[in-house]
Amino acid sequence: MEITSAEFVISNSRADMCPKTNLPEYAFIGRSNVGKSSLINMLTKQPKLAMTSSTPGKTLLINHYLINKQWYLVDLPGYGYAQRGKKMMEKIQKLIEYYVLEREAMTCLFVLVDSRHEPQKIDLEFIEWLGENGIPFAIVFTKADKQTIGKTKSNVQHYLNILQEQWEELPPYFVTSAEKKTGREELLNYIEQINQSLQQNP
Ligand code: GTP
Ligand code: MG
Repeated sequence: MEITSAEFVISNSRADMCPKTNLPEYAFIGRSNVGKSSLINMLTKQPKLAMTSSTPGKTLLINHYLINKQWYLVDLPGYGYAQRGKKMMEKIQKLIEYYVLEREAMTCLFVLVDSRHEPQKIDLEFIEWLGENGIPFAIVFTKADKQTIGKTKSNVQHYLNILQEQWEELPPYFVTSAEKKTGREELLNYIEQINQSLQQNP
């Protein structure tokens, strides 16, 4: 799929104030600093569309980006960044919970995990929670450029092995680098496939 237009639409601090729309939404979630905003910029080829930062906790709102005037990419605040303080953490957790559970337009949630790290408890618990609630999701392994291809492969395999202890069927997954533009085609094709099946069976 080619992206011919990508526009920032709105930022919201409340999930119930997101755009009223029937268009499908694909949202990016994961720990702070994992690369959610960078991935949106990479997919859209607009390096400044979503704000990124080397300091965790940059994205604090729900951000909607309209793609090809047909579907949305949604950038969510990261979870699990303790330095924000307890109040802020709770607020963000509520926002994420509400968005994930209540947002009808939410079509697939991409859970981002850093391809360099051992599976983290907070991510595994989040994934389990998605399963319990029947939320459609895929996993995105980020920052693959930061290590050798071989190391990425073995880390991904290790992650899948851990998931297999919980899941009979593994979720779809993607390996990406915002830096090297890896995984762009695969992710966009996956989204396009879902968009097409929604058009055929609305
Ligand atoms: P929050 O908004 O704080 O939740 O973070 P985020 O998940 O949106 O992360 P963001 O995209 O702001 O990226 C965090 C840092 O990681 C930035 O310094 C990015 O440049 C860097 N980064 C993101 N993706 C990649 C990648 O694929 N490769 C490399 N080398 N760096 C990356
Ligand atoms: Mg961000």
